[in-house]
Amino acid sequence: MDEREAGKKRSAERALRYVEDGSIVGVGTGSTVRYFIEGLADLRHRIEGAVSSSEQSTALLRQHGIPVLDLNATGPLPLYVDGADECDPHRRLIKGGGGALTREKIIAACSRRFVCVIDRSKQVDILGRFPLPVEVIPMARSHVARQLVALGGQPVWREGVVTDNGNWILDVHNLRILDPVALEASINQIAGVVTCGLFAARPADLVIVDGEVRD
Ligand code: 5RP
Repeated sequence: MDEREAGKKRSAERALRYVEDGSIVGVGTGSTVRYFIEGLADLRHRIEGAVSSSEQSTALLRQHGIPVLDLNATGPLPLYVDGADECDPHRRLIKGGGGALTREKIIAACSRRFVCVIDRSKQVDILGRFPLPVEVIPMARSHVARQLVALGGQPVWREGVVTDNGNWILDVHNLRILDPVALEASINQIAGVVTCGLFAARPADLVIVDGEVRD
């Protein structure tokens, strides 16, 4: 296992400490979260179940014997654990490298505590080196792309990828995101955008980097 992978695993394992007995856990998507799910399997008799942010995580949770619950039935969650593609010093994130950004954003919005688990390579001073994913309704792809160019980005269609919601993704390159809250709002207002991968209006509450809680 290389250094980055070891950092992800340590962070995911550390996040297990925040799981409360008898609770329902919000679970993100990706390679870091995979380690979290493996650890959660050992605690499965102590929790009621999980709310999943993707079909991929749902399959993993079920493989590990963890009940997957419907967010409409659970109400607000005490804890959401997820990775990120980038994290700035204010705990604002770029997410969606795995294409699960919309369901991830919904669960983040419904959770009292969002614990973000990353390795140190994901830390940046200014968001935007990682192309910003934007989920779009298929018929709006070209329209949204033009609007994103007007905002200064270079959108690239993630061709062949269909999200769990049946939509498409544009990855927006060359953005230097100086005001993530404002850009998140602007992009989300474009007709045809489902949501963008900026988690700035609702940032993480706690960030664990290489297994250590960041100040
Ligand atoms: C998926 C995500 C992931 O959290 C993000 O892509 C990080 O993934 P990984 O843990 O594999 O590096 O937002 O939509």
